[in-house]
Amino acid sequence: MNLQLYAMPGNEERAQALARALHGRCEVELAGCVLHRFPDGETLVRVQAPRRDAQAVLLCSLDDADSRTVPLLMAADTLRELGAARVGLVAPYLAYMRQDRRFAPGQAVSARLYAQLLSAHFDWLLTVDPHLHRIRNLADVYSTRCVVLHAAPRLADWIRTHVERPLIIGPDGESAQWAADVAERAAAPVVVVDKRRDGDRDVHATIPDLQPYRDRQPVLLDDIISTGRTLVASLEHLRAAGQPAAACVVVHGLFAGDALTALRAAGATRIACADTTEAVAGVERIALDSDLADALLALAAEDGGRR
Ligand code: R5P
Repeated sequence: MNLQLYAMPGNEERAQALARALHGRCEVELAGCVLHRFPDGETLVRVQAPRRDAQAVLLCSLDDADSRTVPLLMAADTLRELGAARVGLVAPYLAYMRQDRRFAPGQAVSARLYAQLLSAHFDWLLTVDPHLHRIRNLADVYSTRCVVLHAAPRLADWIRTHVERPLIIGPDGESAQWAADVAERAAAPVVVVDKRRDGDRDVHATIPDLQPYRDRQPVLLDDIISTGRTLVASLEHLRAAGQPAAACVVVHGLFAGDALTALRAAGATRIACADTTEAVAGVERIALDSDLADALLALAAEDGGRR
């Protein structure tokens, strides 16, 4: 099996790591995709010509989705125009999943609209732990073939290695699914915080009684850090309750604005994120390359049969 892996800008290191993880299992060529930004803000996309004997795979994590999506779709369509029979997308972070219903009149249901957009341009999508809450399954909104990789085993490995006697704390009801899974794998107890969000950066947390776990190290476990305020609310509550400083372990570290500073100020000791987004200084990385490589190989084998 031959793959041409096109890294969109910002994904080059991830592409190299993925190619290393695939080494010896299939032929991988790191193919070029170059963007030129014109002074007026438009983008010219240029891709290396696709080979007839290889499958075209674009690699693009979709943090900062608004600036990444237009060039990504143009790259996919250009590959097809130049002869690629099928084009797949590896998007370790999948954007827009949290706006999964119309919370107020007139709002876009972004998760569904974004799903329609990507589905129209890609033959398949491989991603990591999308924020599935009211949408139960990606296939409910994506019409293209989707494969979801779960980071829980790697997050649990990290916790087992770095934290003695952990107590896993999910910082809101939506995190319960990830927190419970990781806690089971790390053989740790789990509690879930009651969160109220009154604005982008206005979050309040009520933590259950932690007395039964006073000999344990708190680990906040969530799927996404965006502004960081969800974790900050829990960290502040823990500190006020005289609990030991907590580690934060998260799948997708977006770190919008002053998120990292706010987390440190609220007492986060170690912060570790899966490597689904670009590296941030001071944040530990949990590698998913080998899991992504396994999933990509399975998808490419299945897709090869369709060409
Ligand atoms: C929300 O439901 C998610 O699970 C995260 O808790 C949330 O997106 C984190 O956002 P922020 O870091 O802005 O509080």
